[in-house]
Amino acid sequence: MYLVPVAGSRDFLVTSGSTMAAAEIARQMTEGARNLSLSGHVGFDGMPDQLVNKSVCQGFCFNILCVGETGLGKSTLMDTLFNTRFEGDPSPHNQPGVHIKSSSYELQESSVRLKLSIVNSVGFGDQINKEESYKSLVEFIDAQFEAYLQEELKIKRTLHNYHDSRIHACLYFIAPTGHSLKSLDLVTMKKLDSKVNIIPIIAKADSISKNELQKFKIKIMSELVSNGVQIYQFPTDDETVAEINGTMNAHLPFAVVGSTEEIKIGNKMMKARQYPWGTVQVENENHCDFVKLREMLIRVNMEDLREQTHTRHYELYRRCKLEEMGFKDTDPDNKPFSLQETYEAKRNEFLGELQKKEEEMRQMFVMRVKEKESELKEAEKELHDKFDRLKKLHQDEKKKLEDKKKSLDDEINAFKQRKTAAELLQSQAQQSGSQQTLKREKERKNNPWLCTE
Ligand code: GTP
Ligand code: MG
Repeated sequence: MYLVPVAGSRDFLVTSGSTMAAAEIARQMTEGARNLSLSGHVGFDGMPDQLVNKSVCQGFCFNILCVGETGLGKSTLMDTLFNTRFEGDPSPHNQPGVHIKSSSYELQESSVRLKLSIVNSVGFGDQINKEESYKSLVEFIDAQFEAYLQEELKIKRTLHNYHDSRIHACLYFIAPTGHSLKSLDLVTMKKLDSKVNIIPIIAKADSISKNELQKFKIKIMSELVSNGVQIYQFPTDDETVAEINGTMNAHLPFAVVGSTEEIKIGNKMMKARQYPWGTVQVENENHCDFVKLREMLIRVNMEDLREQTHTRHYELYRRCKLEEMGFKDTDPDNKPFSLQETYEAKRNEFLGELQKKEEEMRQMFVMRVKEKESELKEAEKELHDKFDRLKKLHQDEKKKLEDKKKSLDDEINAFKQRKTAAELLQSQAQQSGSQQTLKREKERKNNPWLCTE
């Protein structure tokens, strides 16, 4: 049950419902606001000061990604921009791929503290096959967005003191060839342009002549446009900076020179690069666009770069990620869909899917059991058949053996009978033989003249 204020009156409507009603209340509350004049000082005109004090107290953070081939003067430019010396050791350049090196620093100017992170693309452009060079950059940028999203989605969030590592500006260093952009530059910038504010700069601009530089700048911009690469445009909607930003947009890409060396020019020490034929003054706008870059990047548009990162690039990442996870703002009929409803719908969808999967698995299990059962029955039947076959074989064998045994027994009996008969005959023969011998012995005794054989 809700009380909805009626626009332009002090009446309230009593209504019920959920998200739709809440949205309606919010709409009516803002639309129904009336303009009133104050009859005395209240004090909320101090809000801007409160904001400034709070921000100064908290400090600021700014993260810069430097992308560019080896030795284009990235580290020197960072040192020159922030008037300090950041990293000491030169980066290795014999790596199989591009790797990301992030270093954080605490800087202070007057009472303002700045947590600055400089992210370097070590080994960019060093490989023979440069196809995958952009990948580690994209992965790094996405990983910072993901970390922020995870913090946002936590129940206990600590976003007020969260160390924001999202990249606010990408300085893309273009080699001062004077010709055109390399395909590596175009591919990398195209892959990065929806994720980060790209500010293209022509590095080591002291190595290119004034006329060539103008042509080179025009060529670069036309190539970026024809390849649909979106670079960061200094905002012109805030009238306090619209003019300067509008002018500076026309100077892009900035042609810069970096140097930490200080040389005495007149009676002033100045950052410069000295050559046998002359001196290039880094902060002289007739020599290069270094000052323009510093003004645009740090003094005028640092906050806009941070804001663009949050409202444009991070928002895009967040939207894609949440859509990927199945969240949406409207239902198929284009009606608003609250997070609660999305959650319920997703939960029901998930439960439905789970039940479907369970049912599928159950059916699969029953089918498998049936299959196994029939397999086992088949095997059992085969075993029975085999047993029967073996049993019959055994019986046949047994019968054969018995028959054979019987015939052998018969043979043995017949043999025994024959043997007995033979023995009888033999003893009879022996008997008659010995009787004859006796008879002959007797005859010889009676007649000694009978000769013996
Ligand atoms: P890696 O980190 O090794 O990729 O190099 P890098 O891009 O950081 O370049 P680094 O700042 O180390 O500069 C490389 C060389 O270029 C050094 O000798 C610098 O003095 C020189 N250098 C830097 N900036 C400029 C410039 O604007 N013009 C000229 N001519 N030389 C420069
Ligand atoms: Mg370096």
